Amino acid sequence: MEHLTGPNSGIARPPLGDFASYPSLVGQVVFVSGGASGLGAEFVEQFARQGSVVAFADVDDAAAVALADRLEQLGLRRPLYRHADVRMASAYQEVLADIAAVIGPISVLVNNAANDERHDSTVIDPSKWSDLLAVNLSHHLFAIQAVAPGMREIGVGSIINLGSVAAHAPFTGMPAYIAAKAAVEGLTRTLARELGPARIRVNCVIPGWVMTVRQLRERVTEQTERILDESQCLPGRLIPADVARLVLWLGAADSGMCTGQNWVVDAGWS
Ligand SMILES: NC(=O)c1ccc[n+]([C@@H]2O[C@H](COP(=O)([O-])OP(=O)(O)OC[C@H]3O[C@@H](n4cnc5c(N)ncnc54)[C@H](O)[C@@H]3O)[C@@H](O)[C@H]2O)c1
Repeated sequence: MEHLTGPNSGIARPPLGDFASYPSLVGQVVFVSGGASGLGAEFVEQFARQGSVVAFADVDDAAAVALADRLEQLGLRRPLYRHADVRMASAYQEVLADIAAVIGPISVLVNNAANDERHDSTVIDPSKWSDLLAVNLSHHLFAIQAVAPGMREIGVGSIINLGSVAAHAPFTGMPAYIAAKAAVEGLTRTLARELGPARIRVNCVIPGWVMTVRQLRERVTEQTERILDESQCLPGRLIPADVARLVLWLGAADSGMCTGQNWVVDAGWS
């Protein structure tokens, strides 16, 4: 995948090298919400490269099919795609049940779908507020509700929720997104306690500002570049692979005694 394009293409970074291989991920059933593009697409690809049996849901059918086609052409197992709007809790849970019926109980759940559209705290109405919480927070719970029984049956599970640096930095202009992402951390902590006795782990990955194609197209400006240069301890820019490496590890047995935590990959934002 081409990740560093546009304004960041000139930023030097040491090569990342090959991804680690996790034997425990071979054959694991992995589900990624919002997997058609951005970070989600990177997770889908990297789990597929590990030999996992991958499914994903999204609302962007064209991008989803293009991703599945591309991975199949690379010789990887074609990921199973289902259209699902994560805001529609019941229908989304039915899709998750259907996926488990087709490829087996999900043992790694990546709650990734989100929408960081900007909105104004002074005029947002209750309906828009609820909608943004639905796409940025509520589906994490409803997906967990749907897959946890299957994880209990197989005796193991790893749930990875996506938080955001936005809940820790002085960002403005998206209060619902930031409130939701802060709540994802709390949800992670309490569900890790609830599900731990069943050996189901729940962790939260908190990315810094990651240069996805969409962020580069819609958000990155000369001014944000300056903010990144001042805020990150490390030079260079985060790319989806940086986050995927952490997500793979959290999905694998290598992190088997880690749960209830925030895992930050933000180049040292302060
Ligand atoms: N990119 C960043 O800089 C960054 C930083 C911090 C956290 N994150 C988090 O990482 C995750 C992925 O971010 P991203 O930048 O790749 O996001 P993105 O907006 O580029 O992609 C999100 C994906 O979710 C899908 N989606 C949106 N609404 C949906 C819905 N209602 N139902 C189903 N699918 C839906 C989109 O079609 C898209 O494929 C998110 O949880 C985000 O909050 C991203």
